Amino acid sequence: MTATFSIRPEAAQAPESGIVTLVDYGRGREGLIPLWVGEGDLATPAFIADAATRSLAAGETFYTYQRGLPQLREAISAYMERFYGRGGPIERYTVTTGGMHAIQIAARLVAGPGDEVIIPSPAWPNGPAAIGIIGAKPVAVDLHLDENGWQLDLARLAEAVTPRTRALLINTPANPTGWTASLDELRAIRDLAREHDLWIIADEIYGRFLHGETRGVNGRAPSFHDIAGDDEKILYVQTMSKNWAMTGWRIGWLEAPAALAQTIENLVQYSTSGVPVFIQRAAIAALDQGEGFFAHQVDRARRGRAIVHDALATVPGLVAPPPVGAFYAYFRAPGRDGEALAMRLVDEANVGLAPGGAFGSSGTDCLRLCFARRPEDLHTAMERLVPVLRKALADPG
Ligand SMILES: Cc1ncc(COP(=O)(O)O)c(C=O)c1O
Repeated sequence: MTATFSIRPEAAQAPESGIVTLVDYGRGREGLIPLWVGEGDLATPAFIADAATRSLAAGETFYTYQRGLPQLREAISAYMERFYGRGGPIERYTVTTGGMHAIQIAARLVAGPGDEVIIPSPAWPNGPAAIGIIGAKPVAVDLHLDENGWQLDLARLAEAVTPRTRALLINTPANPTGWTASLDELRAIRDLAREHDLWIIADEIYGRFLHGETRGVNGRAPSFHDIAGDDEKILYVQTMSKNWAMTGWRIGWLEAPAALAQTIENLVQYSTSGVPVFIQRAAIAALDQGEGFFAHQVDRARRGRAIVHDALATVPGLVAPPPVGAFYAYFRAPGRDGEALAMRLVDEANVGLAPGGAFGSSGTDCLRLCFARRPEDLHTAMERLVPVLRKALADPG
């Protein structure tokens, strides 16, 4: 018999990842093409890794600034100035252990037991889970899918606000749906937050993976930076993970009003006590010299999107409009069970997709496919997937 221990309910109720269920199911299958996780297939480029190696060789192995090296925070500010026109003082920036840690600190800053945080859904599950483990309640507002893609109904967002609401967690461009807020939508969300005195946690980590032509600002997705001042109640989540193929390095940043700097420093002190110096050196190299590599990543993602969506369009019955942003196809097989279908695709196509229900109950008949991969793999994957999807969609649902 397994022993039982009494632990905090927030911890006991933390959900298992629905993506891992599928990864476990397909583990060890020879030749399987894994398109289920949220990362590309390229390793971190050498000029970034070399900066870390040099730092280690130079003995940079000690405790460091809790909020990050000033030099890295300068590099972040300069980067934000280049691409968002909004650098500002380094007091606004704290280096974190990936975007995940930035979300966790943001959640702790604004919500606690009994509070509610509204999250458009389907959503990357770590966002709602981070709200749940601090005892607050994630409140899903379902997006809907039409022939133009996933859409947010702003009236439903407003209806979800209660006296307990403390914040809105807005991920744009979104994982998994690719939903990308227009400037008008961002203004409406900002106004809703102002009206009810709410915080916005703005997860804009995919901001520079934009594929549609109509909604961009300077070639990137619209950002709350475009329509809000520095002292607006907005906490920005960012990461090195996706732009520079650094998912395993665990480094990102949180941007917040400068008045919160000391409080955020304390929260870092009592969680991770800071990011290793050699990893921060790598991040500086990526921010200062990484544009060529980033352009290559975006180009690959755009090619991947075209390969995947051209193929999905040939499957009668699927609802699969190409996403505006990020690097996922999140499509609907109406009336089918996404998890069972994902397992069938492992068995019959040897391709791994994530079941849509892992991202929220409104996506149980969906699948997510990450297209940030080499075109050759994607062509092969789609050649194998399409016949199985056709068969599955032809069966009575
Ligand atoms: C929407 C979203 N936000 C934040 C993150 C955090 O990424 P990381 O912790 O690797 O920086 C991810 C990673 O998949 C994500 O998809």
